[in-house]
Amino acid sequence: MFVIDHLSARETRWAEAAHDYVQAFGRLRTQLQALDAALPVDNESMIDFARIAQPVAHGYYRFEGELQRLRISNAIDLQLMPVYFNGTLLENEEYLRILGYYVNGKSYPPKSLYGLLDMWLEDQLGHAVLLYDHIDPTELPTLQQTRTFIDAFQAHMAKNRAIGGFLRFTPPGFPVQRKFAVDVSVTSIAFYSFVERTIERFRHDELLGRLTLRFLEHHLPETCYFLYQLSRFDPRIIPPETCYLWKPNVSK
Ligand SMILES: [Fe+2]
Repeated sequence: MFVIDHLSARETRWAEAAHDYVQAFGRLRTQLQALDAALPVDNESMIDFARIAQPVAHGYYRFEGELQRLRISNAIDLQLMPVYFNGTLLENEEYLRILGYYVNGKSYPPKSLYGLLDMWLEDQLGHAVLLYDHIDPTELPTLQQTRTFIDAFQAHMAKNRAIGGFLRFTPPGFPVQRKFAVDVSVTSIAFYSFVERTIERFRHDELLGRLTLRFLEHHLPETCYFLYQLSRFDPRIIPPETCYLWKPNVSK
C-alpha cells in the first residue's frame, strides 16, 4: 500500500503489480486468521500455510528490490528514497528466514543480540528519517525532536558495529553489550511514545505535514516486536504496557 501511495499515476504497470500483492497478502491474512494460533509449528496446516506464504513473500521481496534498482537509476517515477527499501527489504529478509524454517515444520533460531540490533536499529532509523521527511518545515520543535531520535539511532548503530568487532574475541552478553541493549530500548520506547503523540496530533489535525495514519501506525507493532525480542536479553528491558503486535484498528 505504501508503494502504491508513492507511485506516480503514470506508473500503471507497477501500481497494478503492487495492487496484486495487496490482494495476495490480504488473502493470506484471511487464511492466517482462520488458523488456530496455538497449533504447533510442525502441524500440517501450519506447514501448508507457510508453503503458500513463502512464494508470495519472496515475490514481493524481488518486486521491492526491482523498484529500488529502478529508483537508483531514476527509471521510475516513485516518491520513495532508495534507502527506504533497505528498511523494508531487511524486514522481508527476516520473514523469509523464518518461513524457511516454517515450511519444514521447524521453529527458527532467534537472532543474536548483535543481529537483532543490526536489523532493527536500521529500521528505527529509517522510520525516524521518513517521519522527519513528512513533517512541514514550519513544525520546528517537532522536527528538532525527530532529529534527536535520528542522531540517537545513528549513534546506536555506530556503537553496535563496534560491538560486532569486539565479539571476535569477547563472548556475547558482556556487560557493555547488555547495558547498550538497555540504552537502545530506552531510545526506542521514547520514540514509540513520541510517535503515539504524533498520531494523536495527526488524528486531531493538529500537525502540518504530508503524513498518513498508515505510515505512523505501522511503527507501533514493529517497535513492539523489536522490544519483545530485545527483552529476552536483559530484565531491565520492559516494553510499554500498551505494546501490541497486532492492532485491529491499524489502518488497512
Ligand atoms: Fe519498518
